[in-house]
Amino acid sequence: MEIIILPGAEDVAHTAADIIEERLRSGPSVLGLATGSTPLGTYRELIDRHRRDGLSFAAAQAFLLDEYVGLPASHPESYHSVIRREFTDSVDFPADAVHGLDGASYPAAEAARYDASISAAGGVDVQILGIGTDGHIGFNEPMSSLASRTRIKTLTGQTRRDNARFFAGLDEVPEHVLTQGLGTIRQARHLLLLGLGEAKADAVAAAVEGPVAAICPASALQLHPHVTVLLDTPAASKLAHTEYYHYTLGRKPAWQGF
Ligand code: GLP
Repeated sequence: MEIIILPGAEDVAHTAADIIEERLRSGPSVLGLATGSTPLGTYRELIDRHRRDGLSFAAAQAFLLDEYVGLPASHPESYHSVIRREFTDSVDFPADAVHGLDGASYPAAEAARYDASISAAGGVDVQILGIGTDGHIGFNEPMSSLASRTRIKTLTGQTRRDNARFFAGLDEVPEHVLTQGLGTIRQARHLLLLGLGEAKADAVAAAVEGPVAAICPASALQLHPHVTVLLDTPAASKLAHTEYYHYTLGRKPAWQGF
């Protein structure tokens, strides 16, 4: 894992956008997109670069991480709607290049279809990830199998409360979701974990410096050969080895890139 601690959320968004831009400019790309508030700054930066510098997504495809079960795609808080509203409708992805899970389908069949469609696209080149306060990535709640594939999961009370801000009330937050599994996510070639704000500090510390354990699903990223962790200073505040992370970033060879 490469741990990059930056002063603020804008710096995280800028660096994440740099990594994605470099991938897009290198050829046809498959991006893995996360929802939630954390990547929104990155998406806004990518939209700006599209409008200002002509950064193009015309040769790219995108796969979402997860979806609520029971919400039709047309629901304003379905991840299908959110990612279009916040990002993909504002750039030039080709029609049908943004793939998501159908929360209204029979879950087992939909999960198998989705894993097969990611493989058919050649796999994900860069996967953006946020982290839940309980250490979840996608919607892989604590005790998710580290080898899991896309499947249905039951949300914890904490995640439903965390996400209630997007709905009219807690009762409207679905109890079930479809999510790429930890094994599915780990097949992406480059994982980009973003963490913003002090509320994420415990989860980030457990994921990065704790043991690899299903109790903290994001700790599964320690088993991946290419992970970049981009944190603002509050999200990094519970890490024990910040001095070393700053030291290595200061000595990063110019040719290396992320
Ligand atoms: C949601 C999403 C995750 C996201 C996480 C954190 O439940 N399924 O993909 O990373 O929660 O959300 P936020 O970035 O809003 O804190």
